[in-house]
Amino acid sequence: MKKVSFSRACVLFLIMQSNLFFSFRASAADWVEFPKDFLWCVSTAAHQIEGDNFGSDWWEWEQRPGNSPSGKACDHWHRVKEDTQLIQQVGAKAYRFSIEWARIEPSEGVIDSAAVAHYQEEVELLEQAGIIPIITLQHFTFPLWVSQKGGWEWDGLPDAFQRYTALVAEQIAPHTQYWVTINEPFNYVLGAYYTGEVPPGVKGPIQGIAPALRGILRTHAAAYSTLHRLGAAHQTPTQVGMALQLREMTAKTWWNPLDQLAAKMAYSHFNWTLPDAMTSGNFRMNIPSQIWASETIPGLADTQDFVGMNYYGGDTIAFSAAQGMERLGWPGPEEKDPDAVPRGFYKLVKAVTKRYPGKPILILENGTMDSDDRGRVSLLKNHLKYLNQAMREGAPVRSYCHWTLYDSIEWNQGQGTRMGLFETDYETFERIPRASALFFRQIASENGFQF
Ligand code: BGC
Repeated sequence: MKKVSFSRACVLFLIMQSNLFFSFRASAADWVEFPKDFLWCVSTAAHQIEGDNFGSDWWEWEQRPGNSPSGKACDHWHRVKEDTQLIQQVGAKAYRFSIEWARIEPSEGVIDSAAVAHYQEEVELLEQAGIIPIITLQHFTFPLWVSQKGGWEWDGLPDAFQRYTALVAEQIAPHTQYWVTINEPFNYVLGAYYTGEVPPGVKGPIQGIAPALRGILRTHAAAYSTLHRLGAAHQTPTQVGMALQLREMTAKTWWNPLDQLAAKMAYSHFNWTLPDAMTSGNFRMNIPSQIWASETIPGLADTQDFVGMNYYGGDTIAFSAAQGMERLGWPGPEEKDPDAVPRGFYKLVKAVTKRYPGKPILILENGTMDSDDRGRVSLLKNHLKYLNQAMREGAPVRSYCHWTLYDSIEWNQGQGTRMGLFETDYETFERIPRASALFFRQIASENGFQF
């Protein structure tokens, strides 16, 4: 096993070092071309790669019986330099990554200056390599002390998050243009307060998500104003948004109007509740006899400079007498139609363009679980072709960040889920290039590919 991957790694590495790979160019007819300044990018998240994230709520969660400890993860904490080179090797112009609040402020009010220095160095390395940082401030994890105070439901969260944000923007990344305040908040709160699958693990009625969503919006508004205030002070053009996972929702049957209604409701609540609120300043939700929320949140209106979008596919939705709607799980509509997932990408990008006119769109995540790399190149081709079509029809898409640079810890699923352009050897922490790493590099270098 090892020998095969070593020789494959050598061959791929040599090709990546040479220009051989780029000597072919396809006929214009099949060429999918992107704009010159398009941001080819790769994404990661701190807890999934850094290792030893002792002070976080996820670390505590993972130590519970039956859960998968992340341990050293990919040991990125000690491999920042080498990993920066990997980003260069795949030709990415931007790198989306997150900073761990739990490392910066392991206990309330106590700042770990070594952690601050570490992240400063990481950002400097990226800047020296000419890679644009896209920084996420909260990617699923909290410091344990924040979660013990109530996490998203803690009233003091916006102030505490604002202080953390100010520290990052002043001391770690004063020249950063792109900021993601919170990663995939809507699906996270469903897992955290409804199905109970992620910390704090509350399994309860759907109503439980409303206070957390309110906390998310208040926290985002606080971070937004801080980032803009400090950006102006450092004369750094600043763009702030969230990373929203957007999903297509298909009704279980075409003939039952209740299934159709349930799918429409799921689609609009899941996808638009938060970006609508960041646009209007009003947090509104109405799931009959389950959730009714209507509140103006101070400072929230117009706090989305770009629509940050993560895309992984869709769901099949059925009507349920008890809950109004029920998700029938993964895989969804692609079971019947393999083109459904990439086409869903196109449809959602078009929908975002229509709903938030003029807002730039950053694709912040898209990728696939594929340990033998058989489907990753075709995923890239199919999704990028549809993305390109939406752009030709006017969608203002500025970036495509592939999830992810190398295999990393997949939350509750641990090490088994392999989504990287590079394979991670969890014993040696070697990153071994997959063929799709080469393909990504080709796309990024040529600003397009042959379909
Ligand atoms: C998350 C990542 C995760 C990826 C793949 C996204 O929902 O932001 O942290 O690894 O999906 O499941």
